[in-house]
Amino acid sequence: MPTRPKLAAGNWKMNGTAAALSEVAQLLAAHPEPGCQVLICPPATLVHRMAVAAEGSDMLIGGQDCHGAVSGAHTGDVSAAMLADAGASHVITGHSERRADHGETDADVRTKSEAAHAAGLIAIICIGETLAQRETGETLTVCGGQLDGSVPEAATAANTVVAYEPIWAIGTGKVPTLEQIAEVHDDLRARLVARFGDEGEAMRLLYGGSVKPANASEIFAVSNVDGALVGGASLKAADFGGIIAALADA
Ligand code: 13P
Repeated sequence: MPTRPKLAAGNWKMNGTAAALSEVAQLLAAHPEPGCQVLICPPATLVHRMAVAAEGSDMLIGGQDCHGAVSGAHTGDVSAAMLADAGASHVITGHSERRADHGETDADVRTKSEAAHAAGLIAIICIGETLAQRETGETLTVCGGQLDGSVPEAATAANTVVAYEPIWAIGTGKVPTLEQIAEVHDDLRARLVARFGDEGEAMRLLYGGSVKPANASEIFAVSNVDGALVGGASLKAADFGGIIAALADA
């Protein structure tokens, strides 16, 4: 079994101005050698400043979305190459909030992820079911379909991370049971191995949705959970630090 590098990823969503860079400084001071990969995806306006703040450390910086095209008449959008130029190494694609707010389809997410790869970025491709879909027993079908449709053909363990984020667990304080997380992650792993072989075995699978310092350890002990994609609790150095420490110990 290949060892998959553990990844604690923070998604700041539409939060943070320059004042929030102090959280990064605190995090770096408290966890100079975190024991796992640490990534923060701030709003696009902070990517460059955060990359500068993280210089000389192992902290990784990412974007939260990119356009599928290299450049062009797309007012307000940011390309993958622009994120890379600003100092990003990763970009989140297909977050459920973008699928909901901007109507992004699996095909869009695949195109964006291909654009990320072309720019040398690691794509963190998000999938997850609604509460209604879970209650009607469609979770594995929905997530499997999103995985198949959103992950590019040329995905490798080096350029792709998959994040399972049940929509009903995002920002709600509700977390699936450990059995439910294991069921989805094991199914995703099987699908990735069936499609990508050894690369699928080596691809990281993150869990996201109300991960906090208090529940992180038990989630990280679940099979095929290689880290977390954290929203609210990534905004404060003390909380994200607790999650990083739990992952380092897992
Ligand atoms: P919360 O951790 O705030 O539930 O958000 C999860 C998420 O959407 C990360 O991308």
